[in-house]
Amino acid sequence: MKKDKIFLIGFMGVGKTYLGKRVADKLVLNYYDIDLEIEKRVELDVNQIFKEKGEDYFRKIENQILLQWDRSGIISTGGGIIQNSQNRKFLSDETNLVIWLNPSWKKVKSRIINSYRPLVLNRSVDELFELYESRIPYYEECADLQYNGSQVEALADLIKK
Ligand code: S3P
Repeated sequence: MKKDKIFLIGFMGVGKTYLGKRVADKLVLNYYDIDLEIEKRVELDVNQIFKEKGEDYFRKIENQILLQWDRSGIISTGGGIIQNSQNRKFLSDETNLVIWLNPSWKKVKSRIINSYRPLVLNRSVDELFELYESRIPYYEECADLQYNGSQVEALADLIKK
């Protein structure tokens, strides 16, 4: 079966956007980012949505957008999308290819620690690690494949295969 929706999942800072865009270019596929779709729908950026409307509202829109998703290409998701069981069920559908980007915690930590993300801003490193660990079983549950590296070429090859 040709899987034409390729979802990239993984914690904040694993490179879903960076790698997703480049791999889509390389494979001549459309590229989408669920966070951007949320921003377009709400007409606020992610940080403003968390601040002004709260995380539950963000999660509600994230869920609506994912469950209606029907466009093919490479689709980056937000790190927390797998916390919702409906989202996990949707992603796990056999018509999707789900790739878990999973570099080491050390790499992830260094990429997010000074980033301006709503869930990073008020958490200590220990709390972030706890969140990271708590999500691992969910990423595992949804993923068809796992990629631990950071090479565009290697990820594109994995998808082609
Ligand atoms: C979130 C990750 C963010 C964004 C939001 C919540 C999360 O996306 O969806 O800030 O819960 O991990 P990235 O994974 O692209 O940073």
